[in-house]
Amino acid sequence: MQKLAILGGEPVKKTPLPDWPYYDDTERQALQEVLESRVWWRTPGTRTLQFEQEFAAFQQASYGVAVTNGTAALEVSLAALGIGAGDEVIVPDFTFVATASAVLFTGALPVLVDVTPDTYCIDPDQVEAAITPATKAIIAVHMGGHPADLDRLTEIARKNGVYLLEDSAHAHGSEWRGRKIGAIGDIGTFSFQASKLMTAGEGGMIVTNSKELERLIRSVHDCGRMPGEWFYSHFIYGSNYRLSEWQGAVLSQQLRRFPQQTATRTRNAAYLDAELAKIEGITPQRLDPRVTANGHYAYIFHYNKTAFAGVPTKRFIEALNAEGFPTQASYPPLHDLALFKNGEYRKRLAPEAAQAQHAFMRSGFPNTLRGAWETVWLPQPTLLGSEEDMALAVEAVKKIKAQASEL
Ligand SMILES: Cc1ncc(COP(=O)(O)O)c(C=O)c1O
Repeated sequence: MQKLAILGGEPVKKTPLPDWPYYDDTERQALQEVLESRVWWRTPGTRTLQFEQEFAAFQQASYGVAVTNGTAALEVSLAALGIGAGDEVIVPDFTFVATASAVLFTGALPVLVDVTPDTYCIDPDQVEAAITPATKAIIAVHMGGHPADLDRLTEIARKNGVYLLEDSAHAHGSEWRGRKIGAIGDIGTFSFQASKLMTAGEGGMIVTNSKELERLIRSVHDCGRMPGEWFYSHFIYGSNYRLSEWQGAVLSQQLRRFPQQTATRTRNAAYLDAELAKIEGITPQRLDPRVTANGHYAYIFHYNKTAFAGVPTKRFIEALNAEGFPTQASYPPLHDLALFKNGEYRKRLAPEAAQAQHAFMRSGFPNTLRGAWETVWLPQPTLLGSEEDMALAVEAVKKIKAQASEL
């Protein structure tokens, strides 16, 4: 067997993986049309409006409101729900910081709870245990594209009279029991940042089936304006979260080829699931049988170092990268971020809440720690590679395992 690439041998994958972002002449033409129309601004424009309708229909939601990014989508949604000082919102400890920082932005307290050990999505039992009279909402994150348990979460939300928000930044096109995610809860938010499944560099979307929520979301995202009213009348709290016409035009084109890309990612992920699971010490993210489609923002697998001669996750990742397979970092646990550890988050809270003990800061979060430090993430553009590329990815893991004692 060839020497490990990290030790000076030949890499398993010698040619580049697919470039990302993907574009072709349709994006070029759409941008040219916006340019020449001189309508670059959302307000009089039609491109972003059209994309809102296309994307909402694609996600099987009644309404879509495009915003500047996925973080803004969460902030606008929480503001539209009237969440603020004194309220609590339950969020997973294992996610990008935006899921929790958007809650702090409103002045409410993000209550961190653990995820499940195999899907890495918010654990419904932990959610149930964290509900208090101050709870106003639950934010589920569909980790890596895999939907959280929406059966249990909708039931818990309904029973307790709280909102369910789906942070779907990773999960364009994902389905739960045959239904697209996003508007299964009260509101769903998406990101079109550069690494996401569809992108305009930055961008976000909010979907809902509620006409009243759509009215409020649209108003918050446009300075508190209301449709049909004078331009300088502002009725509720709002800010400027509007997406430009350039981005709307590009995203319409990205959406057009998205189903075909999803089919490729799904085929390749299924192959990796089957082949990587045969390697002792590698456990792919569990696919819940109720998940009927997974957008696959990333291909996530658990790495057990004891099956790899004790080689730490970080060193395994370096070796895999050297073999020609890039990875993206997993998220650190939120409770370990300086924002929480140093108590900085308290500065966003109302005085009483700021001084209170927050029990979640004393929790262990074992499954989040497992997700944060023991998983390996292949980024979604890798899943657009060929069948041969997938076989080489499996070969690279086997090669590292066979020579793990050298590392
Ligand atoms: C789970 C999750 N939520 C929210 C966001 C925020 O999206 P954006 O980067 O577009 O603000 C991200 C982006 O990385 C994310 O991964």
